[in-house]
Amino acid sequence: MILIIDDDIAVRASLLLLFKTAGYNAEGVDSQKKALAMIATQPVSLILLDLNFSIETSGREGMSLLKEIKKSDPAIPVILITGWGTIELAVEGMKLGASDFINKPWSNDYLLQSVKTILSLKEIKKETHTRKQLDSLYNFQNIIGEDERLLQLLETAGSVAATGASVLITGESGTGKELVAEAIHNNSLRSGKPFVKVNLGGISTSLFESEMFGHIRGAFTDARTDRTGRFEMANKGTIFLDEIGDLDHSSQVKLLRVLQDRTYEVLGSSRTKTVDVRLICATNKDLNEMVSKGTFREDLLYRINLITIHLPPLRERPKDIPLLVNFLINNLKEIYNRPHLSVTSHAMKWLQQLQFPGNIRQLKNLVERTVLVSRKDVLDVTDFEPQLNLPSKKNTLQLPEVGSLTLDEIEVMMIKKSLEFHKNKIAKAAASLGLTRSSLYRRLDKYHIPYDETSD
Ligand SMILES: Nc1ncnc2c1ncn2[C@@H]1O[C@H](COP(=O)(O)OP(=O)(O)O)[C@@H](O)[C@H]1O
Ligand SMILES: [Mg+2]
Repeated sequence: MILIIDDDIAVRASLLLLFKTAGYNAEGVDSQKKALAMIATQPVSLILLDLNFSIETSGREGMSLLKEIKKSDPAIPVILITGWGTIELAVEGMKLGASDFINKPWSNDYLLQSVKTILSLKEIKKETHTRKQLDSLYNFQNIIGEDERLLQLLETAGSVAATGASVLITGESGTGKELVAEAIHNNSLRSGKPFVKVNLGGISTSLFESEMFGHIRGAFTDARTDRTGRFEMANKGTIFLDEIGDLDHSSQVKLLRVLQDRTYEVLGSSRTKTVDVRLICATNKDLNEMVSKGTFREDLLYRINLITIHLPPLRERPKDIPLLVNFLINNLKEIYNRPHLSVTSHAMKWLQQLQFPGNIRQLKNLVERTVLVSRKDVLDVTDFEPQLNLPSKKNTLQLPEVGSLTLDEIEVMMIKKSLEFHKNKIAKAAASLGLTRSSLYRRLDKYHIPYDETSD
């Protein structure tokens, strides 16, 4: 049963109606005493608590009731309802163990979604599926691994996918954050709609609004044409904000405002647009630490982290390394038409004890380079080893004088060199350049580099 605690009868009535219509069993009470009595005698699955409880509008009373509730049954999730200007209270409430907060006037959709998510999270704590069971429930086929922590996070990802709740994905670079974000989208009801990735680390402060919200022609000096913002591109789908920890202070404020109001204005126009997107954020930074240092807004953190998924570094799940290597090798067999590729068990063991600071991305690059460079079918430690230290070679590479070559010119030279080395085989040249075949083709066309179309 969902318990609504609010002394305003109009609010209680509209929330009761909302929940009953959505198929939930709900009750409303108007005082602290009744609320605590209800919790003591009835099975309450979730509580909605108005912080502006009682005539006193400081919210203190609601806060003390929250403490009481958490003392009597810490397992019951609490969603806070706050008025404007009480955001600090909401943040304080989250620290005391509230699960989420919504602002008045609330959006019914958002509230129902939050309730659904929080209740489904309570459910999954009880369940632990095997990898096979997970694969029959969801589509995670390109996410390899059987590590306990990986299975647990897939369990969470799968069960919250359908709710539309905001998800924060944390973990070191190369651990699969983007892969998981895409999987959540693909397993959600929005899967037929766009998945729009925005790398916030690459957007300057001055361009943040025009990039995210769009602008109309003439909105500012350089705005020569209309531009569609990322939120609009992602409409009805999912927006993936990568490297959210790189967002500067003023952009954090602007983002928070959109997430609170669910509306924004296109630059230079007075039209207000409504945001209908699922939000997934990712970062390799420790946002809690950033909050304590004052470099990340606490209220923004609570807006984005209703669900947090942490990806463990590869070195902490060495048992997954052989599974990943086999998966990668199988892909390469197809890509390069090398059906007899394999890795010796000695090499597998050796790979398992490496540190991989670049995680799965690094493992993938290592395997791919080794396959290309060694040209053997059966790969052993001696084939992998020389490829492992390449990054340090890159760092000591002697670059030409500044001003002597443009980036485009360097790109052309490297592309030609790779083509020559791989005897005009496009797939191999692309792989050695870290490109997909189609992006290599695009560059060949762009720079008018001749190539043999039959030798792919
Ligand atoms: N569990 C996994 N199984 C297979 N491939 C993976 C897995 N995790 C990551 N990868 C691959 O590793 C590379 C890096 O993953 P990505 O999601 O971009 O990491 P991040 O966003 O955390 O930096 C990608 O090519 C991705 O497909
Ligand atoms: Mg990434």
